[in-house]
Amino acid sequence: MRNIYKLLNIQHPIIQAPMLGVTTPEMVAAALRAGCLGSLPLGDADAETCAQKIRATQQLTDQPFAANIFVNDIPPISEALKQQYDLVKKKLTELSTELEFEVEFPEIESIQPKGYPSQLPAIIASGCKVLSFTFGNLDKASIDLLHQEGIVLIGTCNSLEEAIALERSGIDMICVQGIEAGGHRGTFQSNNIPMNAGFSLLQNVRAAVSCPLIYAGGIKDKRSIAALAALGADGYQVGSLLICSKESALQAFQKERVDRLKEAEIILTRSFSGRYARGIKNKFIDLFEDSEFILPYPYQNKLTQPFRAAAKKHLNHEWLSIWVGESFRDLSRDSTETILKSLQ
Ligand SMILES: Cc1cc2nc3c(=O)[nH]c(=O)nc-3n(C[C@H](O)[C@H](O)[C@H](O)COP(=O)(O)O)c2cc1C
Repeated sequence: MRNIYKLLNIQHPIIQAPMLGVTTPEMVAAALRAGCLGSLPLGDADAETCAQKIRATQQLTDQPFAANIFVNDIPPISEALKQQYDLVKKKLTELSTELEFEVEFPEIESIQPKGYPSQLPAIIASGCKVLSFTFGNLDKASIDLLHQEGIVLIGTCNSLEEAIALERSGIDMICVQGIEAGGHRGTFQSNNIPMNAGFSLLQNVRAAVSCPLIYAGGIKDKRSIAALAALGADGYQVGSLLICSKESALQAFQKERVDRLKEAEIILTRSFSGRYARGIKNKFIDLFEDSEFILPYPYQNKLTQPFRAAAKKHLNHEWLSIWVGESFRDLSRDSTETILKSLQ
């Protein structure tokens, strides 16, 4: 069945992308007011934080929305990883002193996430009926558990093989993420730089799987949606279009940086998190990309987090991540509701 209206309880087949660090409960509520699916990003937050964020959003709306989590593998802490961690920590500590940032870096043992299975009881208990995920696939026991609870599952693919693997494992819908997309790649079968352009990927996936497809990457207006509908998409997920919206958590100096953006400044980088993500090139990326100072995800992400927070305090966009996709021009300051209605 490809009726996503019923499965997602929506009036328009448009999905506000989950964007950790940018999406607020207010953004989710505004997407729901526009008759679209709102998505609340939980990343790898612990169960208590997941419950709190869901509750905060439920206080703003009585409509159902999607929760979104990261389902990546977590590499064990080996001696080699510990040594590399200390090397990157030293580098960041020196940089912080140079920049006069006050940063406390955590020890590696304190930042190892518990993994997504520990989040699921809180998500189920909160009553969320749609769960989207990225960076991997759920294990069979989790898929069975979530289905027993009547939860619709949306996985993310960056390749045809990933789409086929998601469908075979019983995932209900697939978010097909094109190379244009802002933020992290959902890919889970490759560590290489992502190559698959959305246009071809969507057509390849449409020909190979029968579940509903949500396309993400580069959607700008009604015309992009019409083109994607012709290529076989059932739903349309928009992220970058909303990063400068009224409800975005980005601060004024970050939105102003986005306003001044030039095409060549939008790149894929592993520097901040250890996984490829699309965002704005800056001094941090110049220093870290292709260097020995990149740990595997999620360790790089966790270690650079307090440094990025300090850069934010200093309103310094050269040392923090701003994720944005290739359709970056003239991003609106309107409300999420107004922007999403303009796509209908
Ligand atoms: C700032 C930002 C943060 C993102 N965070 C997440 C996230 O937490 N979870 C997720 O599944 N996708 C995340 N994404 C990817 C989006 O779901 C989506 O694939 C992408 O925004 C679509 O491309 P577009 O930005 O060109 O609209 C993020 C994207 C951006 C721009």
